[in-house]
Amino acid sequence: MQNNTFSGLFIGHNLITLKEVDSTNTFLKDAVSKSTPLLDGTVIMAEKQFAGRGQAENLWQSEAGKNLTFSILLNPSFLAVDRQFDLNKAISVALNDVLIKYIPESAFIKWPNDLYIHTKKIGGMLIENIVQGNKIKYAIIGIGLNVNQEYFPTNLKNVTSLKQELHQDYDLLGLLGEICSTVEARYLQLKGGSLKKINDEYLNLLYLKDQWALFKFDGRIQNGKIIGITDIGQLILETEHETRVFNTKEIEFINN
Ligand code: BTN
Repeated sequence: MQNNTFSGLFIGHNLITLKEVDSTNTFLKDAVSKSTPLLDGTVIMAEKQFAGRGQAENLWQSEAGKNLTFSILLNPSFLAVDRQFDLNKAISVALNDVLIKYIPESAFIKWPNDLYIHTKKIGGMLIENIVQGNKIKYAIIGIGLNVNQEYFPTNLKNVTSLKQELHQDYDLLGLLGEICSTVEARYLQLKGGSLKKINDEYLNLLYLKDQWALFKFDGRIQNGKIIGITDIGQLILETEHETRVFNTKEIEFINN
């Protein structure tokens, strides 16, 4: 579908909107595995996901029709497999670019995949890559952003939405268009080799960077200070005794 909401060069020009689907990421994954021809930058958006997926096999819960739940298909064949976290950084920074327009100075990127406003989660990303040789053939960028939802189930702690923060409703398609053109700009920046700019902004926006906070690792709660991220996306933490590097499953944030 050609449309005017999408002002970029390619992301969102082919927009498929679904009333209901298990997960927009799964939909795209299935399409790719069946070799369905889909344009680079195709976006699948769902009003309702009945099996939305989050990080670490969590469910992604989102009230139908209130929020953005969508996936973007990209062909980042310029990206080697061991550089896949660069894409995560570019997309995180892009989403933050959009959020700070609405809520200046309060939007952060929480490693590895969360979008935060102050100390609450407003959205998350689930990036799934399909690899060929040592390159990424397809990247499925799943994004969930809480927009107009006012009330959240009690099991979801520490979450927020644009509406909770700013007390007004937003047009979902307009916001999707804004996100797609911003993601495209950052993606092209990455493709054009400006990784340093993306890296610097990512580190500037990193939640709890350079602050002592509580984390759980090695089976107990301990103090740590985030001081950076490795090239392959591991968290670098200063602890009371040494500097350590963690993969996602090896460390938890406490109270945050
Ligand atoms: C997370 O924070 O755990 C990541 C959440 C990602 C959710 C989005 S919603 C659209 C896309 N489809 C899915 O099933 N998940 C992603």
